[in-house]
Amino acid sequence: LDMDVLSALRTARLVPVVVLDDAADADALAGALVAGGLPVAEVTFRTAAAEESIRVMAGRGDILVGAGTVLTVAQVDLAVAAGASYVVSPGLSRAVVERCQELGVLALPGAVTATEIQAALELGLTTIKFFPAGTSGGAKAIAALAAPFGHVGVVPTGGVGPANLAEYLALPSVVAVGGSWMCPRALVAARDVAAITALTADAVALAAQTTG
Ligand code: 3PG
Repeated sequence: LDMDVLSALRTARLVPVVVLDDAADADALAGALVAGGLPVAEVTFRTAAAEESIRVMAGRGDILVGAGTVLTVAQVDLAVAAGASYVVSPGLSRAVVERCQELGVLALPGAVTATEIQAALELGLTTIKFFPAGTSGGAKAIAALAAPFGHVGVVPTGGVGPANLAEYLALPSVVAVGGSWMCPRALVAARDVAAITALTADAVALAAQTTG
């Protein structure tokens, strides 16, 4: 199951990080991402709308929905019950990872140092979120960490956008790149499907150009 989700993320190459203020906007957002060619989303637990938004989006059946900004075991339970297929955290919490493993969903915790990556490996993980990527050394840091950790998959997120996407996607250890630039919060709240679809399609085209 983890492998299925990881291979879907590897295929997508991009993970839109979403903040929804109102679950009533969730279906339009999902439709826009799908129409733009990116049937993937990370719905962050930064708003009260996250749980219901995950339920709405996962219920469509045409988009792989994960939960983001998951800080607690209780949030893991809510996210998975709502239909989340993977659980992303900004940092590494043993309790969160172990709950994901109990429930059989992929945990994608943040790790940016060798020590944090070793801690993730000890929990049985193969892939980490490199967050915040831009201020943690960026692509250079990921390339340096790949010397000892060449077998560890990395999802750089934070400060990634069209201008630097290519340098991350060029690294063999990078599974996918996450970011919010495809779905700015104001466009999501405005249900501006056309604009989100266009930003998403641009990102997909850029990613296709910069990977083999
Ligand atoms: C995240 O949670 O991964 C970040 O908020 C996304 O970072 P970005 O807004 O710089 O893309």
